[in-house]
Amino acid sequence: MRAAVAALFDRSSENYDAVGVDFFPVFAKQLLADVGIESGDRVLDAGCGRGAALFAAAERVGDEGSVTGIDLSPRMIELTEQEIDRRGLTNAVAAVMDAQEPALPAASYDVVLAAAVVFFLPDPAAGLRAWHALLAPGGRLGVTCFGANDPRWGRVEEIFRPFVPPSMIWAMLNPSSPFASTENFARAAVEAGFDEVSSTTRTHDVTFRDPEQWVRWSWSHGQRVFWELVPGEHRDEVRRRVLAELDRLREPGGTIVMRQQVRYAVARRAAS
Ligand SMILES: C[S@@+](CC[C@H](N)C(=O)[O-])C[C@H]1O[C@@H](n2cnc3c(N)ncnc32)[C@H](O)[C@@H]1O
Repeated sequence: MRAAVAALFDRSSENYDAVGVDFFPVFAKQLLADVGIESGDRVLDAGCGRGAALFAAAERVGDEGSVTGIDLSPRMIELTEQEIDRRGLTNAVAAVMDAQEPALPAASYDVVLAAAVVFFLPDPAAGLRAWHALLAPGGRLGVTCFGANDPRWGRVEEIFRPFVPPSMIWAMLNPSSPFASTENFARAAVEAGFDEVSSTTRTHDVTFRDPEQWVRWSWSHGQRVFWELVPGEHRDEVRRRVLAELDRLREPGGTIVMRQQVRYAVARRAAS
């Protein structure tokens, strides 16, 4: 599974967050506000991707602090390192590493961030335990994951459904996952040793210029796997049907607005 996830994000990396849609950075900034990043903090961004949280955190921690981004995808890390260099940052580094089993020194971070990554971990509870061990006493964990999909996209999901293996659908709907509900998260975080656990669910309006932009965007991140599951000979037909469905959702100005639910969770490692 890890190799498949790394390869999927290698393939997504070039266009990730680069098709003109405000998505991952919006949620990452909200997460930083919830978790409360301060000047001088030592931050680990687990599953950093192209750095939506990493770059915002680097700005906040300043020269006294530091941000370490880790990701399974070598290409994501390569591009994030290039951006760190391009910005001339001396307080940020990025490395290829498994966020679930990070080979990093215990109790050496003030904040661990896991933005839109937990649903890719084979054993999310193990990830929570590992992040607890990496935090210094009093340190904070901030996690985001997606909540319910916009119900108006149900007909688009139906178009892909015949091509998606049932095991994958089941995994996405798994009600016992620590991230399937705020209650599950709170329980899993407490079991991993955290206290002061709190969760907030927010709904963000994500605007697409037109249906074509939604299609380009859906190829630019993990969702591309659904397009890739469609055999080549059916892709044009699927694309045509998806565009027709999205056309029905156009606002008066021609844009489409997707209501994306995001769960934000913050937890603290006890101070002693
Ligand atoms: C949806 S992206 C989110 C990236 C970034 N945090 C953001 O908010 O834009 C998920 C990222 O998690 C990474 N990932 C998935 N499983 C991982 C694991 N076990 N360890 C480290 N990174 C992982 C993927 O390679 C991908 O870059």
